[in-house]
Amino acid sequence: MSDSHVPRHIAIIMDGNGRWAKKRALPRFAGHKAGVETVRRVVKLCIEYKVEALTLFAFSSENWRRPEQEVNLLMQLLMTALEKEVKKLHENNIRLQMIGAIEAFPKKLQQLVVKAEQLTENNTALTVTVAVNYGGHWDIVEAAKNIASQVEQGKLQVQDIDEKLFAEYVCLAKLPTPDLFIRTGGEKRVSNFLLWQLAYAEMYFADISWPEFDKTEFLTALQSFATRQRRFGRTSEQVEKCSNNV
Ligand code: IPE
Ligand code: IPE
Ligand code: MG
Repeated sequence: MSDSHVPRHIAIIMDGNGRWAKKRALPRFAGHKAGVETVRRVVKLCIEYKVEALTLFAFSSENWRRPEQEVNLLMQLLMTALEKEVKKLHENNIRLQMIGAIEAFPKKLQQLVVKAEQLTENNTALTVTVAVNYGGHWDIVEAAKNIASQVEQGKLQVQDIDEKLFAEYVCLAKLPTPDLFIRTGGEKRVSNFLLWQLAYAEMYFADISWPEFDKTEFLTALQSFATRQRRFGRTSEQVEKCSNNV
């Protein structure tokens, strides 16, 4: 696969952990634990294939609706993963950041996040963003609030607000926009993930669960991406003419 066909930014909804566990007569939590292994695998693959950014949906604003015990176990798992993995990520020149309303999380978890972000902020091999207590609606509302506050303080004029400016206020603004969206687990929906940022992402849905997502599946997704013609509203002829000129 040539480098020009590799997505610069992949965004993933890691779904199907619970069903993976149920099929094996295990508690749902075993599926989430197995899912952490897949995260490790996919991070390595992104480095191998020179993907610049990987964004993972780990906990949605709607996941609070789950049984309290599952929510608590997911928090624990996130905390353990942060404690165990950050050093390794740093050694591998990987930058880690979180997006979402993390102020709703236990103080200890928030402190771990700040530490991890500070430690890895200058790393350049790959940016891994984990979305926790994240929702696309939340993201857009936060952007609107921040812009409104700039207007209130006289730092921005209403007429300055356009799509380009708005894009600077949503999460992931400093990264290339996601090129490839992957959802495992068989569902074909966006579930309030990056609503603004996915406007022109190529969509790829895999029927297998997240714990089963391996190198072969990853490469199948990349190959599917490589065959897509991204037109961004233009005609095929225009796009072909353009790519012949480069
Ligand atoms: C995704 O797997 C992980 C989280 C939402 C935290 P699920 O837990 O949604 O797994 P299924 O969809 O029930 O199989
Ligand atoms: C989306 O999965 C959220 C994460 C993977 C973190 P869900 O399993 O929560 O999505 P729905 O409820 O099936 O739409
Ligand atoms: Mg699910």
